[in-house]
Amino acid sequence: MSDSYLIKGGKPLKGEVILSGAKNVALKTIIAALMFKGDVILKNIPKINDVLDLVKLIKSLGVKADFTEKNTLVINSSNLKSNRVDLQYGSKIRVSFMLFAPLLHRFGECFVPNPGGCRIGARPIDRIIKGLVALGIIIDYDTETGYYHAKIVDKPKGAYRFEKPSHTGTELLMMIGLMTEEKVEIENIANEPEIDDLILYLNSAGANIREEKNKIIITKSSELKQKEAFTIMSDRNELVTYATLAVASEGDVIISPIDKNLIASFLKIMREAGAGIEEISNYKYRFFYKGEINSINIETSPHPGFMTDWQPSWAILMLKAKGSSVIHERVFENRFSYVEELKKLGAKIDFVDVLIENPEFFYHFNFEKERLYRQTIKIQGGEELHNAILDISDLRAGAALACGALLADGESIVNGASILERGYENFVEKVRKLGGEIKKV
Ligand code: EPU
Repeated sequence: MSDSYLIKGGKPLKGEVILSGAKNVALKTIIAALMFKGDVILKNIPKINDVLDLVKLIKSLGVKADFTEKNTLVINSSNLKSNRVDLQYGSKIRVSFMLFAPLLHRFGECFVPNPGGCRIGARPIDRIIKGLVALGIIIDYDTETGYYHAKIVDKPKGAYRFEKPSHTGTELLMMIGLMTEEKVEIENIANEPEIDDLILYLNSAGANIREEKNKIIITKSSELKQKEAFTIMSDRNELVTYATLAVASEGDVIISPIDKNLIASFLKIMREAGAGIEEISNYKYRFFYKGEINSINIETSPHPGFMTDWQPSWAILMLKAKGSSVIHERVFENRFSYVEELKKLGAKIDFVDVLIENPEFFYHFNFEKERLYRQTIKIQGGEELHNAILDISDLRAGAALACGALLADGESIVNGASILERGYENFVEKVRKLGGEIKKV
């Protein structure tokens, strides 16, 4: 099967992009649907590889899940028959560990493999497991099989404070909290808007989830049952990919629908970089090239900061900027797999050392003193880019590589299209609509 893109770059991209639904909401709403009674109708679900793999996984457990219209997924879990996630599926999808919640809810006991997903650092789930234990779940890990065995004896209750926030961790513990007869409190939570969308979906079906400053409180919920179809929010990460590509290619692209509050930190920094931005309406933005791009240094951080998922796209814009800029990744370790690949296009990027006074606090991953980390890069803008053969190794890096090839003169091959397509719906079609020359080979 063809898994590469042939890209002929060097053209300004112009036109309109309609965003797909957010991957990082779609996956969680699908998993949570297994805690509902009756049909669950989810709209705006992107047909991306991660979603399609997750649908296969839940079907393997006996759940009925079908796309009825283009992006409408109908799920009914009344025939859920297995409490064991198959390794073949579980190892593919990072969020498969979130199935702890529905499987414990339905069976009181379950077997879930250590999660797979994008190769961005070690990505342990230690804080999340500690959280499950704190809420009363009994959990063992079998190093031989790679499976967790979890059990509920008493209904979850109590409090857990994340030592450092975790996005999916917050969501999983919140879903565990839905089983409480009393109260569950989760503190030092992640604040991504994708979590708010999940809360909206659960509360509209009978959950009792309340957000306070940096805290989520769950009290006894009714049996979850959908009153009406739920439409998930647009993908902010997709917006950033196309907006930076539009400006870097000296093009002009209108993107919708997106709520501006979800991308405030991105808009601010794009303006500083000298990108043209026109707010056409509350939900529609035009991103265009209006002259020289300024070099801007960024540091990633959880919401409301500059998101880690956006930094590979930022690197693409900075390749076209005047002077040099620095990207410092604080959330994940090892999220620069695109650097060596972009160099093949002629990009000038170097890893640099920055002295951080209190790295254990500064970085969001579990910093170990004796290990060597490469968390900062310096990009020299303005170098001529030429064609090359590139290999994708993780999703967001993949988008950066395809975009890099779209900026470079000549024909490039980008291998690993299926990794990019884990998170981008109709990437080829959307780029072609903007006048980009790309095809699958
Ligand atoms: N971490 C631990 N232990 C834990 C949990 C997290 O060390 O128990 C570390 C992680 O390795 C990372 C940091 O803490 O260094 C933050 O991780 P977090 O748990 O917040 O990230 P995540 O939940 O695994 C989600 C998104 C990511 C997005 C981040 C940040 C999903 C499926 N994934 O990951 O999205 O970058 O939050 O917002 O929601 C992507 O879409 O490409 C993607 C990677």
